Formats: sequence, structure tokens, C-alpha cells
Amino acid sequence: MGLLQRGRERLGDIFWFRLAGSRIHALTGPKANAAFFQAPDDQLSAKEAYRFTVPIFGPGIAYDATPDVMEEQISFLFPALKDERLRSYARVMEEEAENYFGRWPQGGEADLLTAMNELTVFISSRCLVGDEFRRRLSTEFARLYHDLEGGINLLAFFNPDLPLPSFKRRDRARRRMVEIISGIVAERRESRTQGEDFLQTLMAARGGDGKALTDEAITGLLLTSIFAGQHTSSVLACWTGALLLQNPAFLPAVLAEQDAAFAGAPEMTLEALRAMGVLERAIREAERMHPPLIMLMRRILKDVTYGEYVLPAGDIAMVSPAVSQRIPDIFPDPDRYNPDRFSSNEGFPKYSMIAFGGGRHACIGGTFAYLQVKVIWSVLFRRFNLELIDRDVRPNYRTFVVGPRPPCRVRYRRKST
Ligand code: HEM
Repeated sequence: MGLLQRGRERLGDIFWFRLAGSRIHALTGPKANAAFFQAPDDQLSAKEAYRFTVPIFGPGIAYDATPDVMEEQISFLFPALKDERLRSYARVMEEEAENYFGRWPQGGEADLLTAMNELTVFISSRCLVGDEFRRRLSTEFARLYHDLEGGINLLAFFNPDLPLPSFKRRDRARRRMVEIISGIVAERRESRTQGEDFLQTLMAARGGDGKALTDEAITGLLLTSIFAGQHTSSVLACWTGALLLQNPAFLPAVLAEQDAAFAGAPEMTLEALRAMGVLERAIREAERMHPPLIMLMRRILKDVTYGEYVLPAGDIAMVSPAVSQRIPDIFPDPDRYNPDRFSSNEGFPKYSMIAFGGGRHACIGGTFAYLQVKVIWSVLFRRFNLELIDRDVRPNYRTFVVGPRPPCRVRYRRKST
């Protein structure tokens, strides 16, 4: 991050450096970000940059498919993200959060990293794969998921097929996932039960040829959405709370908003969640200062011209949400936590906030992620008084998805109702 920041300060919005034998062109700032996100796939290829995901998502899925097929596969998920579905996820998220935090004693200490990780695994397994999966298989799922995640590291970026123990565990875990999910699909087909989850959406989906998706494809797309969404949401939830608790001047407004939202109507509806503007701005500021994905990559397949500069085919291009979102000309006093910077109606230039990507590969799960983080903190703030124990909150660059360094503990005391 230091290198990228200094590169931008000295050399401007485009420069290159060498990493592990590859030449990497770093683009930062809205104009350069726009060039990156607007380039067609046959020029800047996500597929070629993210091959490490293929053994996890499966053959022929997402980055292993042609860009057109990948687009079609992602579009199968759209019905699962419509308002009526979000409405039922909001209820599920609330139930999971209330159950999870309901098990905390009257007072004590908890690590946000552990809590958010566990809770978001429960939420995503239920909203994505369904009730039966969540009820029966939580423990096994957590272990399999851990083994799949263990397959993401720097080596996988260069060669995901090396005969390493962690890659063998990843492949075993994936085979078991296919087995489990195929079992659920078969049961649902037989009993004609319907779920309100991503799995149901994929079971109902029909390709351009009118055919239903195979169990392999269904599992692959579920794993794609779980992978894209669970750890990133967990980390965003950690940052949101840790930063708010580290800057308590911003807390009273968040708490007052919660009191107002639940006065007389204790139900957590989609509309109530959408109206939580103060909490939303706190999430947005956490996303700005600490985007879960700090770098997005593409393989350059055809030369790209940017002003005087040519990015040659064969090299790698990248953008960095972490660097772009701290440019002082756009975000004054960028290292200061200030959710109110998002209060103005003016907004910020396009492609200055890129934590959820942009262009044809922009994230499809942003609304789902925000909903989840809102529900979690709404429950926590209403049920507990909280105080941050580890007040020096800094990013942990050792992991692919960047959260606060461990431990990130809070002291809590249950509020009397
Ligand atoms: C805080 C949470 C999240 C963050 C920060 C995040 C971030 C991103 C980013 C940066 C990209 C673009 C990658 C690139 O251009 O190289 C992306 C793509 C994607 N995200 Fe998310 N994401 C989050 C949650 C989710 C969730 C919850 C889901 C699904 C339910 C999801 C599904 C996807 C998918 C399918 C893509 C690929 C889109 C495409 O290439 O067409 N994400 N996400």
C-alpha cells in the first residue's frame, strides 16, 4: 500500500512496477479507474487475472467461462437480489443476528473478527443455500469453507494446480460441497419444496438454450456468490463497528436513529433498514477508508493507450480502491474518519469510490452486503453498550480480504430492556 501511495504521489495516476517477474501497471484516481473499468474483456481480462478461483468455483464457471457465458451465469443470480427476496433476507439476517448475540452473556469481551466471520457464514449459508443446509450442516460447512479459503494465496495466483496439501484440501472440500448441494437439490425436487434463497433461484434458472442448470453449475455459482460475499461482508462489518467505536463522537447520532427506527414498531423491515441513513454513512466511510479488496486486477490482452502511456499486452493492470479512496483532492482530509462527508447531496465523481468495482464486472451483491452489515450493527447497538478494547485499529495485509489486525475486541454489556 505504501508503494502504491508513494507511486501515485510521485508519478501520478499511472505508473508501473515489477512483482514476481510480472510488470504491473497501477492506475489510480477516477479518470484512470474509468479507463480500467470501461475496457472490454478482450483487452483487459478479469478471467485471465483470477484463474486462482477456478478450482474453487469449478470448471466452466465464472472466470473459467467465456465473458459472455460468465455474464449469463451472473445474470441467473439477479432474481435472488430483487426487493421481495431482500425482504425475506432481512428477516433471516435479523433472526440469525439475534440468535447469535442472544448467546452472549450479560457482559464480557468478544473479538469482532471471530464474531462477524461466524455470523456472516451463518447468514450466507442460509440466504444462499437455504434452511435445510443451515440447520443440518453448519459445522461441516464451516470446515469445508475454511479448506476452500485455504486455497487462496499468492501461489494460487501464479499456479492454482500445484500439488500442495492446501490445494488438495481445497479440492477435497469442493467435491464434498458438490455432493452436499446436489443432495439438497435432489431432495427439493422430490419433495417439491421451495426455498427463498439463491439455490431456489438457480434451480429455477434456464440457460439461453432453455435447459436447467446442472448440479455442478448450481454448486459453482453458489460457491462464487458465497466467496464473493461472505468474507468481504464480514470484514466490512468489522471495520464499520471498530471505526465507529474508535470515534465515539459519531455514535449518538447512530443510536438516536436506531431508537427512532424501532420506536413503537419493533420489526426490522427492509424499509426501516433503508431509512437508516446515519448508519449507512458510517458503513460508507468504513468502505472508503478500508475497502475489503484493496487491489483489483486484469491481464492485458491487447495494448491499452492511456494519454501518452501504452500498457502493453502481456502485462497486468490493476486499480486500488484503498489508494483511490484516499485522494485528498476528492476526499478532503482523507485519513480522518468522517461519515458526514457523505451527507452532502453532491456526491463524489464517478469511479472515485470503487470498493465494489465498476463497469461490466461491478459487484452485484452490494445491496445484500449493506443490508447485512446494517442488520448486524442495528441488533448490536440496540442490545448492548459497547466499547472498543484494541483501540489501535490497523489493516491486516496478511490476508487477501483486508480486515483489522487481530485481535479486534470489544467489551460489551447487555442493555436492560
Ligand atoms: C462488502 C462486501 C463486498 C465487497 C467489498 C465486494 C466487492 C466486489 C468487487 C470489488 C468486485 C469487482 C471485482 C473486479 O472487478 O475485479 C465484485 C464482484 C462481484 N461480486 Fe462482490 N463484493 C461484496 C459482496 C458481494 C456479495 C454479498 C455478493 C453476492 C451475493 C457478491 C457477488 C459478486 C459477484 C458475482 C461479482 C462478479 C461480477 C462480475 O464479474 O460480473 N459480492 N465484488
